Amino acid sequence: MVIKTLDIQTIRKDFPILQREVNGQPLVYLDNAATSQTPQQVIDVIVDYYQGYNANIHRGVHTLSQEATDAYEAARQKIQKHFNIAHSHEVIMTSGTTHGINLVATGFTSFLKKGDQIIVSAMEHHSNIVPWQMLCERTGAILKVVPMNLDGELVIEEYHKLLSDKTKLVFCNHVSNALGTINPIEEIIEAAHKVGAAVLIDGAQAAAHIKADLQALDVDFYTVSAHKMCGPTGVGMLYGKEEWLKKLPPYQGGGEMIAEVTFEKTTYADLPHKFEAGTPNICGGIAFGAALDYMNSIGFDAIAQYEDELLQYATEQLLAIDGLKIYGTPAHKTSVISFNIEGAHPYDIGTIVDKLGIAVRTGHHCAQPIMDFYKIPGTVRASFSFYNTREEVDKLVEGVKRARNMLL
Ligand code: ALA
Repeated sequence: MVIKTLDIQTIRKDFPILQREVNGQPLVYLDNAATSQTPQQVIDVIVDYYQGYNANIHRGVHTLSQEATDAYEAARQKIQKHFNIAHSHEVIMTSGTTHGINLVATGFTSFLKKGDQIIVSAMEHHSNIVPWQMLCERTGAILKVVPMNLDGELVIEEYHKLLSDKTKLVFCNHVSNALGTINPIEEIIEAAHKVGAAVLIDGAQAAAHIKADLQALDVDFYTVSAHKMCGPTGVGMLYGKEEWLKKLPPYQGGGEMIAEVTFEKTTYADLPHKFEAGTPNICGGIAFGAALDYMNSIGFDAIAQYEDELLQYATEQLLAIDGLKIYGTPAHKTSVISFNIEGAHPYDIGTIVDKLGIAVRTGHHCAQPIMDFYKIPGTVRASFSFYNTREEVDKLVEGVKRARNMLL
């Protein structure tokens, strides 16, 4: 298959923020794993909504409400198509990945009993650890952890050993936010299903790089945030297989999620509304759909190819710096580089490169167990998107060299 070559300079013009300066220097934005930037095409959709048809959805007979409802439901269908989901009612609109995970974790409370087991991976974000610990506290279920190796790969043989008829749920991220590792989720899902366990995959860090086919994966739950993939913050989606969504109780009570309410008894709305209490982030949902349109117009194969080239280049350049160590050297990874320089604190490096206009994330990246595993307080994390350039990598390398010279 011939993959198209991206015209990065033209793409960059779509992102107004990339034209700004920070601390008197052109912005070099390398914190895409925390949040991606927003193209004008998505900003326009947000402005159009508030200028033209801002109204509550599913509630009004008036024209504005119907226009907003149509646009919101069209976005749900775009999400359905993008992730190859069988039914649009299996797309639950959420405020983001954390919301999706908590919805499932809370819903499973009545399905688990003391002694049941839940498996998570050692490289989860706190949002894919804490809700399951809370579920264990509520039910008496036991949390088991799949270990990782020094390359930042899961020790998959250990996962197979942990699986048993006691395993009820398995949770894993598709891609590690701290290391960029692409996990073997096909194998994880298939093996869990053999023992009758359900699987939730946290797709937050994968969604901007990998177009997941959820029917092919046969996953039970998959959750993402729009702001990692050129959309706005505060909106995301939870995919759940219809059979699971029908079984799970509602997460929140309120307007919109009911069929009928009396003081004696309330019946719940059909999917997906049963899980969508209250007025949602209407504009955000519509903009999420626009973000998917934008990313698909660029093409995920072209994005993956370009980002991988950038990753290889940045890895080589950074490794040439004396004392620099990269955490996360798995065989398969996205364009994330977590690193430290021996003798320098990651916060200090981050602060110095910020003065040069370079945005990276520093700290534990909401993944403290990974930092504990490597016995470090945190890392500097540069995460690249399809709108970053080799010149920006060069600026990062120069900035890190300068920080090293100042700090050591
Ligand atoms: N989870 C986001 C990150 O990795 C915020 O930076």
